Amino acid sequence: MHIHPEFHRFLNRNDKETLLKQRGLVVWMCGLSGSGKSTIANAAERVLHQQGRITTILDGDNLRTGLNANLTFTDDDRLENIRRFAEVAKLFVANGIITFVSAITPRGELRDLARGIVGEQDLFEVYIKASYEACEQRDVKGLYAKAARGEIAHFTGKDGTFEPPSNPDLTLDTESTTIEDATFELLEAIRHRIELR
Ligand code: ADX
Repeated sequence: MHIHPEFHRFLNRNDKETLLKQRGLVVWMCGLSGSGKSTIANAAERVLHQQGRITTILDGDNLRTGLNANLTFTDDDRLENIRRFAEVAKLFVANGIITFVSAITPRGELRDLARGIVGEQDLFEVYIKASYEACEQRDVKGLYAKAARGEIAHFTGKDGTFEPPSNPDLTLDTESTTIEDATFELLEAIRHRIELR
């Protein structure tokens, strides 16, 4: 009530994209903790940066230390976590920035929410696929060992739900593909979406 958005008076997205010589896109990467989301986002961002593209990464672990520091891992808080990710990603994409989101996004409902906020045409969904067992073996952050000892509530894939996406734009299986190959495949898949035509 009594809110009058000013979007119409501001410079529009096309003006920003023309300046940046690129199209904005949200590359939404979902998958288990330790599946390789941040690693691939980081590698892809570095290649694009070298090519003169403006990019950013919104990472679950990072945002949970700031913007989302008040949220836990209950279903409700994950929903709010993803809603905020999507709203922030929407701001970036409206300014022509290629935005990687690296967040588990464990349920279809959450991915639908993100797609609804960002907009179908601006969201490219990537499933970073690795089994619970593979992530547990890697256990880069030591969280799987803690979860096995019962020290983490609602741990995704254990007592927190993980539903693999039913129809992602791209699946990258990090058990059978190297990070380099996965990164190359991702960049090939989004190439035409970020080009200014
Ligand atoms: S999401 O489910 O809400 O999308 P998000 O990507 O923001 O999750 O955060 C996941 C990160 O938080 C994991 O990579 C891990 O480092 C950490 N974490 C802490 N507790 C949990 C938990 N219960 N389940 C999953 N990840 C957790």
